[in-house]
Amino acid sequence: MGILREAVQESIDHLRPWMSWIEFEPLSDPDREALIRQWEEDWIAGREVVFGAFLGDQVVGGCGFHDRAGPNTLEIGYWVHVDHLRQGYATEMAHILTSAAFAVPSIERVEIHHDKANTRSGAVPEALGFNLDGESQVKTHAPATIGIDVAWSMSKRRWQSINTTLDG
Ligand SMILES: CC(C)(COP(=O)(O)OP(=O)(O)OC[C@H]1O[C@@H](n2cnc3c(N)ncnc32)[C@H](O)[C@@H]1OP(=O)(O)O)[C@@H](O)C(=O)NCCC(=O)NCCS
Repeated sequence: MGILREAVQESIDHLRPWMSWIEFEPLSDPDREALIRQWEEDWIAGREVVFGAFLGDQVVGGCGFHDRAGPNTLEIGYWVHVDHLRQGYATEMAHILTSAAFAVPSIERVEIHHDKANTRSGAVPEALGFNLDGESQVKTHAPATIGIDVAWSMSKRRWQSINTTLDG
């Protein structure tokens, strides 16, 4: 729990513009414990999943699956610790999560959404060959967001065809 608190604290200035949950930071220790327990319960119940990414004992970032994108679909989210930016970690996390999602027989589609102003985030699905589906007007959810959601998607068939060498 301590390393998560430190990682979020160290990265708070670059997370604040984009991540809505940062407004609740710093969480008290009991609240963070409750949050981690909730993540475990959600995973066990087959709802949302949250993962940490580590290099030894250093937190590189966090990522996970949202289950809000509709049937047979998972949405991926990610953030990277400020000391590990621009080294391909977000792309690597999204690659691993996409492969993991498609290892679930019922999952046919993976989505990534980001605010249009968050071009660094958009570089991730683009690099992985996701399809740019379009934009829609949404509420702004963090200080730098402009309320335009950019949606990207990947089908299982396409993922398998472009990753035959890597994963197969
Ligand atoms: C968006 C975010 C997750 C990107 O993380 P990242 O790990 O820096 O992203 P990646 O390194 O995978 O890819 C982005 C860049 O690294 C470059 N890159 C990829 N692999 C690389 C490697 N092996 N070595 C060096 N650079 C590399 C990419 O070309 C890309 O270049 P750019 O920065 O000029 O666009 C990060 O900026 C972040 O945490 N932002 C705040 C939270 C957030 O916005 N989350 C997403 C909400 S939708």
